[in-house]
Amino acid sequence: IPLKNYRNFIIVAHVDHGKSTLSDRLLEITGVVDPEAPNKQVLDKLDVERERGITVKAQTVSMIYHYKGEDYLFHLVDSPGHVDFRLEVSRSYASCQGALLLVDASEGVKAQTVANFYLAYSMDLKLIPVINKVDLDTADVPRTEEQIESMFELSRNDIIHVSAKSGLNVKYLLPKIIENIPPPLHCRPDEPFRAQIVDSWYDSYLGVIMLINVADGSVKKGSKIVSFKTRQKYEVKEVGIMYPDRTPLPHLVAGQVAYIIPGIKDPNTVFVGDTLYEAGTSVEPLEGFEEPKPMVFVGAFPAQGTDFKKMEERLEHLFLNDRSVTLQHATSSALGQGWRLGFLGSLHASIFKERLEKEYGESLIITSPTVPYKVHYKDGREVTVSNPDDFPDSLKKTTISYFSEPYVDAFMSFPKEYVGKVMQLCTANRGEQEEIQYMSNDQVLMTYSIPTSQLIDDFFGKLKGITKGYASLDYEDAGYKPSDVYKLEILVNGESIDALSTVMHKSQIEKNSKEFVKRLKEFLRIQQFEVAIQAQANGKIVARETIRARRKDVLAKLHASDESRRKKLLVRQKEGKKLLRSIGKVKIPPQAYQSFLKAR
Ligand code: GTP
Repeated sequence: IPLKNYRNFIIVAHVDHGKSTLSDRLLEITGVVDPEAPNKQVLDKLDVERERGITVKAQTVSMIYHYKGEDYLFHLVDSPGHVDFRLEVSRSYASCQGALLLVDASEGVKAQTVANFYLAYSMDLKLIPVINKVDLDTADVPRTEEQIESMFELSRNDIIHVSAKSGLNVKYLLPKIIENIPPPLHCRPDEPFRAQIVDSWYDSYLGVIMLINVADGSVKKGSKIVSFKTRQKYEVKEVGIMYPDRTPLPHLVAGQVAYIIPGIKDPNTVFVGDTLYEAGTSVEPLEGFEEPKPMVFVGAFPAQGTDFKKMEERLEHLFLNDRSVTLQHATSSALGQGWRLGFLGSLHASIFKERLEKEYGESLIITSPTVPYKVHYKDGREVTVSNPDDFPDSLKKTTISYFSEPYVDAFMSFPKEYVGKVMQLCTANRGEQEEIQYMSNDQVLMTYSIPTSQLIDDFFGKLKGITKGYASLDYEDAGYKPSDVYKLEILVNGESIDALSTVMHKSQIEKNSKEFVKRLKEFLRIQQFEVAIQAQANGKIVARETIRARRKDVLAKLHASDESRRKKLLVRQKEGKKLLRSIGKVKIPPQAYQSFLKAR
């Protein structure tokens, strides 16, 4: 099949608008999968994804289609819909020339449609608008057409109406793709081999498998290729396309998005975005992708009785297939040796937290999520702090000029009756309104600038709550803004517990500190002596709870009138307790931390 007959495309859609269902239909039409086969939704491979119905890892699949006497090779590149995975999303977009912009006829244009449209548009992809679910009673096709026309400036006449469920009109999509989306003509088949790594995953038998976008030349089994970044040389063991599973081919050529097996076991030497080229040639690297930058961090510590080494092996194994999670060693005086995990965004973090809890349950203690804050020193230094315990005490402010925290632009769409409530929620979360758009179908699209730390504090859950589940949310990084943030420490009998430190905005200290000490008290109840639980911010104690020692009521048998004797007894009891208080440090069982952190 000649290069001019290649079409690389993507489906852009809001969650649940039918991307997977439509992909399945296209694979059936082109004979890649059997319509009778039970295992549908080929594209969503990981279990978690299937459970939560969201795509995390991009999966690509190829199709061959006969049209007007010629064969066409399609690469449908899947991408996660959520912008937490923006880098994976742009990586997938970069290997394509066009996109199907899929909109649910009953729901219309939503937050994620808009966010993904902007990205596709900025990357110069040719867009084909498609309205899905026209079979539904609640479908409102004219209204959806109007939205597509006004928001994306796409012509109504170009819109295709389909039902991915019944298959209605899906057959018109492939000719439309051929006619409208250009082939990857910038690729140069006659030059030496050069390709970019789009994705990589690990197979316990074959080792690393890479999905590559071949820009120049060709590659086959036995080819000697080199990584631009590591200068490591590989001898290719197998090449092929995903059809829908790995299907070996004699060679891959320019313009294809396909897999190669380099025969290596160590996934840490493979970098998505890296350029591969033919050994012995000298080439320029293909325009690189940025390394993913984690935006949410949690601490993880082995609970009592869990072996550190074994747990580390299990964690590394879990993250083999997700290179966007960063794993570093961390030590806590309260919880011992552990790890600091970095995630791309709040959804990403919550998926993994759920996965860790499910797989490792009681054997892992996970601390509260935090965003990376910046400390700006007077001498111009700028330090990023992703572990709250490393956040400087504001008392040392003499050398510090100010702090800043990351923000996002949050796009929210919901029915207009909820405008008031959503504004209240955003304000309570330190948001600032940037834009509000009333759309034709009683929907509102609102943009707020919100601190990322508020977003990861279950903002989406709260938003869904106040809109009876109707709201959708998407967001984009919006850089750092100066902020009045402080470290909030929890002290037990004067000693700070590092694993419980958090960083938060001044306005939240009062409420949170009271709540924290109260909650910790619940989990520390039984002690032999008096324990003070305090919260400290900016060098000042801001909240306190006391756990009284289990005391005998020395006054119980006395007459109320026996004043002097009464005083004497109390004094004696007080002295006794002083003695107890000086006995050693408070021993806090790790389970207490676990319960405290879980209750957050
Ligand atoms: P994510 O993978 O979470 O992004 O979702 P998706 O966009 O892939 O949506 P999916 O294909 O999983 O479809 C979501 C729901 O809509 C499923 O219950 C589908 O059965 C249903 N659905 C998809 N297309 C149609 C359609 O044309 N008509 C009707 N009635 N339902 C549809």
